[in-house]
Amino acid sequence: MKVLFAVWELDPFFKFGGLGDVARSLPGALLASGVDIRIVMPFYKVLKLGTAKKKKAAEFTVRYGDKDELVEIYLTAHPVTHVPVYLLRNRKYLFIAKSEDTFAFLDKAIVEMVKKNVVGFVPDIVHCNDHHTGLIPVLIKEEKLKIGTILTIHNLSYQGEAEVEILDKIGLARSKSKVLEWEIKSRRLNFLMEGIIHADVVTTVSPTYAREIMTEEFGAGLEDVLRGKEGRVFGILNGIDLDYSTDMNNRILEIRRKDARVKSVEDKHKIEKDLEKEKRLHKLFLQKKLHLTVDPDIPLFSFIGRFDPGQKGIDILHKMLRRIDLEKYEFVVLGSGNHDWEERFQWLCTFFPKNVSCNFVFDDVLAHQMYAASDFMLLPSLFEPCGLVQMLAMFCGTLPIAHKTGGLKDSIKDDRNGFLFESYSSESLERTVKKAVDIWHHDKLRYRKMVEDAVASDFSWNKSAKEYIGLYQKLVAGEL
Ligand code: GLC
Repeated sequence: MKVLFAVWELDPFFKFGGLGDVARSLPGALLASGVDIRIVMPFYKVLKLGTAKKKKAAEFTVRYGDKDELVEIYLTAHPVTHVPVYLLRNRKYLFIAKSEDTFAFLDKAIVEMVKKNVVGFVPDIVHCNDHHTGLIPVLIKEEKLKIGTILTIHNLSYQGEAEVEILDKIGLARSKSKVLEWEIKSRRLNFLMEGIIHADVVTTVSPTYAREIMTEEFGAGLEDVLRGKEGRVFGILNGIDLDYSTDMNNRILEIRRKDARVKSVEDKHKIEKDLEKEKRLHKLFLQKKLHLTVDPDIPLFSFIGRFDPGQKGIDILHKMLRRIDLEKYEFVVLGSGNHDWEERFQWLCTFFPKNVSCNFVFDDVLAHQMYAASDFMLLPSLFEPCGLVQMLAMFCGTLPIAHKTGGLKDSIKDDRNGFLFESYSSESLERTVKKAVDIWHHDKLRYRKMVEDAVASDFSWNKSAKEYIGLYQKLVAGEL
């Protein structure tokens, strides 16, 4: 089975969000399960190849607008998973991801590369990810290539829009499809919608989100289009890369995170004690580093995420923080993205410097220290397609407190390895925070049992990879 995985970001070469993590891990798990998978992405000017060697594999031209554009293909291998990666280089469109032209051009170039068999790899399936690669399915259909297409939606709220003139640039006749006709009337082309309509199969990153997006509440305007696709929309939960995460922790943390997988009953007790000892040391380290009150008996909460008030729940988090007695808690916030909200959180740090620490940056080292040191991780997201933070937190023995939605609902078992709250409000968040703290203070046995369950949760990519392979096989066999 040959699969080409098309994506706009890939950790560690170029990482923007959670999709970059998925692009790092999922193809690796698929390769390990015997899929001949290769990744294709733009060769941005800022790409960080590190020690990865690259060699020029081919060059070809792509017709875009009324010009032939030269595209060079470089081949490298992913430094962790060794999956081959094709980097497409074109100074005009692919150096900087700055406009809709970047992605229209990328999609056209990928389809041309496959059609002309430029690198000697003809995939059975092109696996597209998010709106950036949303035009690939329609282009493949237009060229009548015998290649299946899957589109994975990582976040429905980013859809990618452009003037319809972009269709002329990529050489798609405006009269070809009903959707395109419809879009021409609205004069806007929606990349994600094109992907959903034309892909053979649509997947998203958790079973609950796959159901949620069929509704007006979560469908971001595309619920009808998605419902029209029923029976071909699947939800497969993402995983975390356990080896990679252990390795990252070991490189970043002062105190090593030991292998906490229980091998025998005798091990169990020792591991529990080790985990508690480690957590305490990490906590003291972080409290000192961030100038908070150094005290193991104050419950420490963290929030790690983009400052996106439309998704990440920072509005209800802020409202709760304004209301509660902050001196009884410690909150560490890491993330950036919205200046107004950053200012509102900054106010809290200014008045409670010993209890609230705000870090409006992208800082991998601090993130890992927070996973290791916190007693609880807050995920108040209004919606969450999957979410990786809660899985990494559990892996580090930190209990998540999350809104019961999307991938959070699918990965957290309420009262067993974390806490879920039903209604999206600062009151429900506060009630759950107080309940968690109560258990932490007064029912150590129960808290320990929950941490143990959290650490033992299986979020390995192998499970997800198996499900993707099942879909690939059905698609190739013409059963989808
Ligand atoms: C997006 C989603 C997040 C998901 C990630 C990877 O960033 O918001 O929930 O975990 O993609 O699929």
